[in-house]
Amino acid sequence: MQWNIPLFCSLQYVLEFASTNHRGFFLSIIQPFIIPKRYENLHRQGQFFVYRGDLEHPYAPGNKWHKLKYHLLEAQARQAKYIASLGGPYSNHLHAFAQTLNTHLEFKALAVIRGELHPRLTPTLRDVVWNGVELWPALRRDYKRGLHADVVKQINALYGDVYWIPEGGGGELGAKGCLDWAKHIEALDNQYDAWVVSAGTGTTAAGLLSHPQPVDLHVISALKGAEHQRADILALALSLKTMNSTQTELALDKRLFFHSEAHEGGFAKHSGSLLEFIDECNAVNPDLPLDPIYTCKTLFYVMKQWHKGDWPYRRTLLIHTGGLQGWRGYA
Ligand SMILES: Cc1ncc(COP(=O)(O)O)c(C=O)c1O
Repeated sequence: MQWNIPLFCSLQYVLEFASTNHRGFFLSIIQPFIIPKRYENLHRQGQFFVYRGDLEHPYAPGNKWHKLKYHLLEAQARQAKYIASLGGPYSNHLHAFAQTLNTHLEFKALAVIRGELHPRLTPTLRDVVWNGVELWPALRRDYKRGLHADVVKQINALYGDVYWIPEGGGGELGAKGCLDWAKHIEALDNQYDAWVVSAGTGTTAAGLLSHPQPVDLHVISALKGAEHQRADILALALSLKTMNSTQTELALDKRLFFHSEAHEGGFAKHSGSLLEFIDECNAVNPDLPLDPIYTCKTLFYVMKQWHKGDWPYRRTLLIHTGGLQGWRGYA
């Protein structure tokens, strides 16, 4: 069920009751983004808007619900008793996973955590435990092996019937949820020449890319050394394409612009100029909180391109992927 609330100051709102396994509703908003003065480009005309994914869902904001949705349905279809996933001690994914499971579903939940667990848990892990998830620490070396890690084998041996959600809610099912997300966003407003989204695993980007909307998709990686990821995103988008559309590989390839140089020193690191940008951005967009790992770097990168004259688009939609709980990891 869906209804539109009248347009208000060029903000667009849609309230929509969410689907299976999800009580409550989505709040979808597109709002204009005010370019901080230092990044203005007086020789070009262009507008930026932000799709406020961070406001969408009470427990799994941004891309989180979309990446979890089909995994949860699959776990239910398989009648799994246990559901498990992996993440770091500040993981947005594990936070959303725990809150969603506690609020809506009947699985017993487990989480493998990268690195040792310290007696004083991070705020993210405190919430994860509070929501009833059992934590399993993994040595970094073992954790890197993902679903092949020894700790995963140990858990399978102990519990037997475990449905595993890959790190970050990834894989084809995660991307499929993001394809639905792209349809939802496009239905709200399709008058853009480019969409921009942050990337970690690239799952969200693959889902958005597989949507046949013929706009350019700019993907900004939060990771250092992620150059190889473009090919992975394309391959994942193509695997969805076989299920959903008739786009050719060439067409997808042409629409995908991958940027691996926006990490500002590395994952979760902040350069001085990035911190300044966050302040400048807040000053002119006081109702637009950026997360510390993904959206701040994405917007910073795009604004620099715009200022240099390297952003050719007239109307750009930046997709806010949530992650605001991550600020609790910083002093
Ligand atoms: C807030 C936020 N934005 C963006 C991403 C990147 O998403 P993906 O891993 O699908 O590329 C993540 C990671 O899941 C995230 O937590």
